[in-house]
Amino acid sequence: MSAILSTATAPWDVERVRRDFPILDQQVHGYPLAYLDNAATTQKPRVVLDTLEHYYRHDNANVHRGVHLLAERATGDFEAARESVRRFINARSTREIVFVRGTTEAINLVASSFGQGLREGDEVILTAMEHHANIVPWQLLRERTGIVLRVLPITPAGELDLDALPGLFSTRTRLLAVTHASNALGTINPITDIVSVAREHEVPVLLDGAQAVPHLRVDVQALDCDFYAFSGHKLFGPTGIGVLYGRESMLEAMPPYQGGGEMIRTVSFEKTTFAGLPHRFEAGTPDIAGAIGLGRAIEYLEGLDWEAAMAHEARLLDHATQSLEEVPGLRIIGQARDKVALVSFVMDDVHPHDMGTILDHRGLAVRAGHHCAMPVMTYFRVPATSRASMAFYNTFEEIDRLADALRYARELLA
Ligand SMILES: Cc1ncc(COP(=O)(O)O)c(C=O)c1O
Repeated sequence: MSAILSTATAPWDVERVRRDFPILDQQVHGYPLAYLDNAATTQKPRVVLDTLEHYYRHDNANVHRGVHLLAERATGDFEAARESVRRFINARSTREIVFVRGTTEAINLVASSFGQGLREGDEVILTAMEHHANIVPWQLLRERTGIVLRVLPITPAGELDLDALPGLFSTRTRLLAVTHASNALGTINPITDIVSVAREHEVPVLLDGAQAVPHLRVDVQALDCDFYAFSGHKLFGPTGIGVLYGRESMLEAMPPYQGGGEMIRTVSFEKTTFAGLPHRFEAGTPDIAGAIGLGRAIEYLEGLDWEAAMAHEARLLDHATQSLEEVPGLRIIGQARDKVALVSFVMDDVHPHDMGTILDHRGLAVRAGHHCAMPVMTYFRVPATSRASMAFYNTFEEIDRLADALRYARELLA
């Protein structure tokens, strides 16, 4: 995240921050809501809700084409949001910021467009820790072109087996696509080390940042990646909007992803010329309100004491790990040294879906399932896990309630 975020280390006032998120103040099945499903989607601060309403009430117009005042305002706010994103991830230019629907669409864009330059036998390296969003687009490309996918394995701790990485490169390797942080395990991957191996082989790197941007300072220049994908809705912004960062020289060399309005310069039946970056990759009317809402979410985050927020999350993770380890029959899946605030777990003789239902009836919103990371489940030989994923607005009491409810579930079901 950008250097303009505050670096003061004042104590974290979680109750004050919670008041910024109106949805958190409600009862579920007679209990106060404990929202622990932040890896799936985060809640939205009031300023984002207000921004969306304000946009539709006062400024709604299509962008880039209108000459009237509303169109100018909508376009100005939309492009200001792009600048907020640029600043937030420290991209060099707004030409490198493409608005998309989310991480999934960002990766599909790269697979489709960058993928057009790939030939049968070319290789893409993935890891066994990827979300399906960073597996399936490459498999679709494999069906179209005959590329070969090579997969970096994981270790029992839930880390990437970096020793195996150099051996996966060949003269045919065209891309390394890896998640910055795992949604199923919480693992934060050592991206600097990974990118430097890729650089030795002159291979570009795509990072799936869906689970990293809500928890880490992300600086695409420092990471030295070529593509970085993330979703607005996991970053306290609206659904339906996300970002593909692409190094300008990479994007410049890529053909358009979709055709239509907004992405052209001139069209005749004989020939179409395309708009410059980033509009060439943004066919059709974009999610204008979503982008403006995302820009507002970023400004909200920039106004927080980020160091204090992250220190709070680290304490929550420690507390959750310790408390859950003490629950009889519970096993944490994913014990990496470096993790975002997320705990995946299984309990002997209790199916994660039953667990999720019991927890829900105590007001605890957690996720149960394969988390769109079936290869991870296969590796750990579990059909599914329960997952408690935290944000800076979660409290220690919520974690204590989770541990109590898990003990209760064990007594009831095991
Ligand atoms: C690591 C990771 N990558 C990609 C995605 C897909 O994000 P979206 O559904 O917002 O496109 C997710 C969503 O859970 C994720 O956790």
